[in-house]
Amino acid sequence: MKFAAWNPGRIVFGTGSLETLGDEASKLGSKALLVTGKHFARKYGYIDRISKIMEESGLKVDVFDKVEPNPSTDTVDKGSDYAREKGIDLVVAFGGGSAMDAAKGIAVVAALGGKTVDYLFPNKVEGEVYPVIAIPTTAGTGSEVTKYAVITDTQQEMKRVIVSEKIIPKVAVLDPTVLKHLSPELTSWTGFDALSHAVEAYMHKLATPMSDLYAEKAVEIIFENLVDAIKGDMNAREKMHFASLLAGYAINLAGTVAVHGLGYYLTTGYGLHHGLANAFLLPYVVKYNIPAIEEKLAQLAVKAGAGSKDPTLFLEKLVKLEDEAGIPDSLRNVGIKESDIDILVKKALRQDRTIARNPREMGEKEIREIFLQAYRGRRNL
Ligand SMILES: [Fe+2]
Repeated sequence: MKFAAWNPGRIVFGTGSLETLGDEASKLGSKALLVTGKHFARKYGYIDRISKIMEESGLKVDVFDKVEPNPSTDTVDKGSDYAREKGIDLVVAFGGGSAMDAAKGIAVVAALGGKTVDYLFPNKVEGEVYPVIAIPTTAGTGSEVTKYAVITDTQQEMKRVIVSEKIIPKVAVLDPTVLKHLSPELTSWTGFDALSHAVEAYMHKLATPMSDLYAEKAVEIIFENLVDAIKGDMNAREKMHFASLLAGYAINLAGTVAVHGLGYYLTTGYGLHHGLANAFLLPYVVKYNIPAIEEKLAQLAVKAGAGSKDPTLFLEKLVKLEDEAGIPDSLRNVGIKESDIDILVKKALRQDRTIARNPREMGEKEIREIFLQAYRGRRNL
């Protein structure tokens, strides 16, 4: 057994934890930039509420509420200019993966100068960045504890990533009450993002006993709770918040593989939600990987609630969960045409950071086959 691991930042989890934000923030800075999306935070009164909580602890608060889904390098550049202009020393993210990833980018670019593109992988983050506090409003991305910020490079028209332990939020505040506003659809899609993180980390070439521990527990909780969470059960949503955090730990220690790599262009090119894109691809990548990691996937079947160790039972459980969670059967059900597969394969081949870590090697032919299967649908699995 051999591994390296570390503890990410502080976690404050539970109902009412949002109220601790003032205390947490005042330990890290005095001029906060609240980074959030364009609608959710304002609609439900969170911009005023969060600002007030921090102001009552003596912080000055400015707001950047211009983060779009799949945030771009342009948005992060704009947010960083604004942060510099305001002289901030702390970034507070409130939102899903998009807001948190944009906030991490702003914490880097505002502190170190230059443009967002200068810090995208394989470039490194050298120097001290502004501390980030992350408050997730979905149970899926795990970004509140990860070293990743996924940003769409507008020049290259592709999703790229800042990877650095320096951008792991210093504090993650997980208050499950914020999940009460989440639609059934978003609960389902973000849940599949979390499940993909867990399963991909588990399948990753560099998986360790530590990453497996988090991944297995996340899989177990998600299979037990996702359907109830979609129906609005707040207890199940709280469990999903926890599972998403665990899956975030798992990808910190291992990483994502071909599901994320193949799915990125379905989001940037076709507007599919990131979690939904992953849900479409996950069964076929798992199936493809069975010959390489049969034992492990057999073990995962038990975590998913199957009665015995068998990798095909895991696949069966996964398909059943997708059916129950309302994931459309195939890519053609959401408007993807068979003729789109050429460009999907071409774009996927550029995501070599994730595909190279898949436990079973895949080239153009194999990637095309996976897209074809996802196009035909789960009925034909
Ligand atoms: Fe993801």
